[in-house]
Amino acid sequence: MPSTDDLFRTARALRASTELADRVRRALRALCDSKSYRGWRDGPEQANRFRLDGEGGHGADGAADLAALDEAGLVEAGGLAIRVNDREGRLFATDGVWVDAQRRVFPFDDEAGTMLRLARRLGWATPDAVVDLACGCGHSALGFDTAQRVMLDVNPRALAYAELNRILNGVPGASTVIALNDVRDGVPRGVARGLRGTVLVIANMPFGLSPGAGVLPLTSDGGDDGLVLQAAALETLAALRRELPAVTRLQALMLGLTAGCAAEGRWEWPQRAAAAFGEGRARWSLLHDESVLRIDGRRALANPSRLRDALPALAECTLYVGDAERRSVRESYRELAGRHERAGRPDLAYGAVAVELA
Ligand SMILES: C[S@@+](CC[C@H](N)C(=O)[O-])C[C@H]1O[C@@H](n2cnc3c(N)ncnc32)[C@H](O)[C@@H]1O
Repeated sequence: MPSTDDLFRTARALRASTELADRVRRALRALCDSKSYRGWRDGPEQANRFRLDGEGGHGADGAADLAALDEAGLVEAGGLAIRVNDREGRLFATDGVWVDAQRRVFPFDDEAGTMLRLARRLGWATPDAVVDLACGCGHSALGFDTAQRVMLDVNPRALAYAELNRILNGVPGASTVIALNDVRDGVPRGVARGLRGTVLVIANMPFGLSPGAGVLPLTSDGGDDGLVLQAAALETLAALRRELPAVTRLQALMLGLTAGCAAEGRWEWPQRAAAAFGEGRARWSLLHDESVLRIDGRRALANPSRLRDALPALAECTLYVGDAERRSVRESYRELAGRHERAGRPDLAYGAVAVELA
């Protein structure tokens, strides 16, 4: 696995040489277009690095492509050292699922796709500025057409990828802030001062319901109700509203899981958002057309689902849970589901909260 320093070095090399950046871009694009790579990325083989010496996918320029990736430090033991996702013509280098879970940068781009679709549905897809409170490698923030971007994350490794992806996607550095930040501390001082016009805050925080420390990776651990960092994001949003000039229009779009009661249409997270900003300002959408959980890299189970079915199913994920701990993880998820049930929250939903603060 490339170290975080290695990733910053790769970003610096691409920044210094547009010729190398072009070659790397071409090589990654060719990979993404190849059947063998797509098959790897969507299946259980993604648990190990993609072999670059395998058949198919590299076309007539294969050797040159590999040389560019090697020169950029993206080849390791005959395999691609990173994962690359492509969406709407943009490329996103990130960690593969083989990287240690407590350091790994979020590998998947489907949630960013959902975020963009929701923004379009709301007519919010072309704001003057995007502030991403948990940018990961930049899947969401770099997907928007906007004049200014602020990309924050608590994981320095994510920031290295975000910078690399900024360069790969030709996004100007002058209009982009990429900074280390814990959402529990709000946003860094001064960030708000530079923002003008319509500001869209996006938050795809870790939102998995966790039965205990260390069970879920850094990218997914949202505490026992999935809302620990969502609550911090709501507070950050309120603080930003106070800090931004009155002429700016502030919108926020957040993705997440929440426990609640499907029969009563009552969900914990939107209730908290409505309590913070008022019913009319915070809107909840349950994403009926999306599955509720990710198991083995793919979204699975109907949305909403019974918590007692959904949570223990997470223990079956071979990408996140090792065989040795599967049984105890399953049991701790059963207990967590029981706690929510006893508190009147038998169901789990995947959805979005949209907040508009004039
Ligand atoms: C589900 S991932 C989403 C990343 C990115 N938005 C994407 O779609 O690829 C959640 C992100 O939250 C970051 N994160 C975790 N705890 C955080 C915190 N306290 N403050 C800010 N970011 C945090 C993780 O490092 C990770 O990048």
